[in-house]
Amino acid sequence: MDSFRIQGGKRLAGTIQIEGSKNATLPLMAAALCTDGEITLRNVPCLSDITNMARLLRELGVDIEGDCGTVKMRVVDHNRVHARYDIVKTMRASICTLGPLVARRRRAVISMPGGCAFGSRPIDLHLRGMEALGAKIDLEDGDIIVTAPEGLKGTTIFLGGPSGSTVLGTANIMCAAALAKGRTIIECAACEPEVVDLAVLLNKMGARIQGAGGPRLVIDGVESLGSADHTVIPDRIVAGTYAVAAAITNGDVFLEEFPYDGMLAAIDRFNQIGVHIEMISGQDDPMHAKVRVTSERTLKPTTITTQPHPGFPTDLQAQFMTLLCLANGNSIITEKIYPERFMHVAELSRMGAKISREGPTCVVAGGTPLRGAPVMASDLRASASLVLAGLMAEGVTEVSRIYHLDRGYTKMEEQLNALGASIERVKEATHTPAGELIPVALEA
Ligand code: EPU
Repeated sequence: MDSFRIQGGKRLAGTIQIEGSKNATLPLMAAALCTDGEITLRNVPCLSDITNMARLLRELGVDIEGDCGTVKMRVVDHNRVHARYDIVKTMRASICTLGPLVARRRRAVISMPGGCAFGSRPIDLHLRGMEALGAKIDLEDGDIIVTAPEGLKGTTIFLGGPSGSTVLGTANIMCAAALAKGRTIIECAACEPEVVDLAVLLNKMGARIQGAGGPRLVIDGVESLGSADHTVIPDRIVAGTYAVAAAITNGDVFLEEFPYDGMLAAIDRFNQIGVHIEMISGQDDPMHAKVRVTSERTLKPTTITTQPHPGFPTDLQAQFMTLLCLANGNSIITEKIYPERFMHVAELSRMGAKISREGPTCVVAGGTPLRGAPVMASDLRASASLVLAGLMAEGVTEVSRIYHLDRGYTKMEEQLNALGASIERVKEATHTPAGELIPVALEA
């Protein structure tokens, strides 16, 4: 398993172009199951999660050309409906094949995804939505079997849960409803930019979806969907992570393809903290802006509560926690989406951070300098927060289990080193005593 060795204290300067969004790409790829036509996706990031999704789709009868950049997909076999446990367990986003499979093949067998590193992640809302569209749900040998022999039928569905909307749940039900008979209304739909991107692709394929980006979707089902060519939106979480990297090193960094319009809650917090995100260009196309990130000498503490979009994203919580270790005073961070998503707290504490946790809330006492230490990554965004901590810490930080990072950031070390960071990837094969390679499990 690779690790990063980071020499801290380097000021970052230069330009990064933000890659395509992982969390947009995964459901966009699954949407290829909704048609016999060719789906071309552009700006697909080079990540292990994308490779895993391609592997799953190939097993489900999709012919795929290209691994990243431009990816072309076309269904060649309609008979395969089983998303197996050994793929689903590596990537929970496998669940977004459910809606497309049932809509087109009238049956899906999906291994029940387990919990992940940051707590239980149920799929009850996905199933409730499919049931409302007329599907029957059974559980057998750890597989969820979803069938709709007569096809799906439009209806009104409330898709809210205890934490509000569901991103992949909305994606699933939107794909299924696009091919259901009649009109479906989804109330409490997720408003995330990635859901909007999926609606844009489906509409290019011939779907009739209105209201994407708001909490009420109106979907008039069509008989079939066709080919489309689509460019994936830039990744707002990668953009936010690199903006934190600039701020935490008191740097001066330009970010191109910055999805400004999808990041207003994060930008609001940056402003509060004393980090300036100045729009250089892109006023006419604010999902593809160019910004300059600089920060004040002394950062201010703030409060952050994670919420569904357009609130502050849970996927940036860990990175902001690292940033707030630098602020001059106490900050409060409350995690409302995944109340257990705090694995980074213990690791940051190993580096000298003063963070106390009470249930879903952490108090970050800023102003204590961090010191390099060996730390272990436990999920994708926690890993990012540890790399950020390493950038600003005194001395050397070793972050192990970097495979988590490779799921969501393309060659992060190369991107940051180009700005002046000093990060070395230390390659290490993991062997059992018998010399076999241990397969790496990816949880989140
Ligand atoms: N929830 C339910 N029931 C469900 C589904 C969700 O109670 O059936 C709850 C969850 O437990 C959570 C909340 O609803 O409390 C929101 O979960 P959501 O379904 O929106 O999460 P997701 O769609 O499984 C996506 C991202 C996650 C991101 C969340 C929240 C992808 C592939 N994953 O997951 O991204 O944290 O939305 O924004 O799009 C990441 O990239 O690091 C990551 C974990």
